Amino acid sequence: MAGVRRGVRIAGWGKYVPQRVLTNADLERMVDTSDEWITTRTGIKERRLVADDESTSSMATAASLAALKQAGTDPSQVQLIICATITPEYQFPSVACLLQSALGCQAAAFDLHAACSGFIYAVATGSQFIENGIYERVLVVGAETLSRITDWTDRSTCVLFGDGAGAVYLEATTGESDLRATWLGADGSNPSYLYMDSQARPSATTEGTAGESTCVNLLPPAPPQANVIRMDGREVFRFSTRILVEAVQRVAEQAAWKLDEIDLIVPHQANYRIILSASNYLGVPLDRFYLNVQRYGNTSAASVPIALTEAVAEGRLQPGHKVVLVAFGGGLTWGALALQWPR
Ligand code: COA
Repeated sequence: MAGVRRGVRIAGWGKYVPQRVLTNADLERMVDTSDEWITTRTGIKERRLVADDESTSSMATAASLAALKQAGTDPSQVQLIICATITPEYQFPSVACLLQSALGCQAAAFDLHAACSGFIYAVATGSQFIENGIYERVLVVGAETLSRITDWTDRSTCVLFGDGAGAVYLEATTGESDLRATWLGADGSNPSYLYMDSQARPSATTEGTAGESTCVNLLPPAPPQANVIRMDGREVFRFSTRILVEAVQRVAEQAAWKLDEIDLIVPHQANYRIILSASNYLGVPLDRFYLNVQRYGNTSAASVPIALTEAVAEGRLQPGHKVVLVAFGGGLTWGALALQWPR
């Protein structure tokens, strides 16, 4: 089949969120914050946290099984697994490999690292394998345990994030593709806006010799507690409100859709105010944006597939609907997909 260009069908979708709920009232007891501050600045009321025996790959497995069940198929059919995550259990092996083993399928597997835009990048990547005729059945997952990279003493970040996983199952079709347009982007010139250190970071003493053009010089010295999310909230807010608007406009233009033809926009659930701002700039009413940020906070790469799955379950997406999935995040990265919801 190699070399035959085919379309992509969204055959299944599913999610998993942990049972444990952390409310704004709980956070009031942990840091100097209030339900009123969190709600008015972000729209978030609660978020889910993994139990001690749960992990990114265990949640990815649960979401994948839900997506495969929804598609009426089983793991043996999967030929490729792509897992978007910034919270793998290990530096290597990848979450996708752990998932391949848990599902018991014979599939190629790799992780994709594009922070909160990861799921959009992963669907775009998985679709390429189908369109180019390499594979016919691809499982794409977004899964995160952000609670394990959150500084629970930093009120400016700990109120924002949560854990969860979502997945879609893509199949080849000889009919028209459900995927109508893709728009991806990145700008690595300000890594300090949103980042987490790694053990591979050069020590401060080597920074001076690394050269002006390297990212190393763009980041502050590694703090003692390095493996947690660091963020410049105002800069990220500024970027997010701008790029969300541009991404929707660009992908709609590529799909030859007018903005008022879009039935539903499923945005990355980072902050209610970012989504509200995009609604105002685009002139697309807020009721055409799917929102569940109040229940889960920001779950990074898991955010869009969880929201998509819930939108379908709530009847917000009907066959033939025009839907835009859109995300933005660390990198900085961004991406949008235009989908005609499958009939
Ligand atoms: N509770 C109470 N006060 C808090 C607080 C909290 N959880 N977090 C910060 N504050 C304080 C700050 O210390 C500051 O106090 P000061 O004026 O005395 O210095 C004040 O609130 C305002 O802080 P500021 O950062 O200007 O607030 P903001 O209106 O920009 O809102 C965010 C902060 C984080 C909600 C907002 O910047 C944001 O949503 N940014 C984008 C974050 C995001 O989505 N990241 C992920 C993208 S993928």
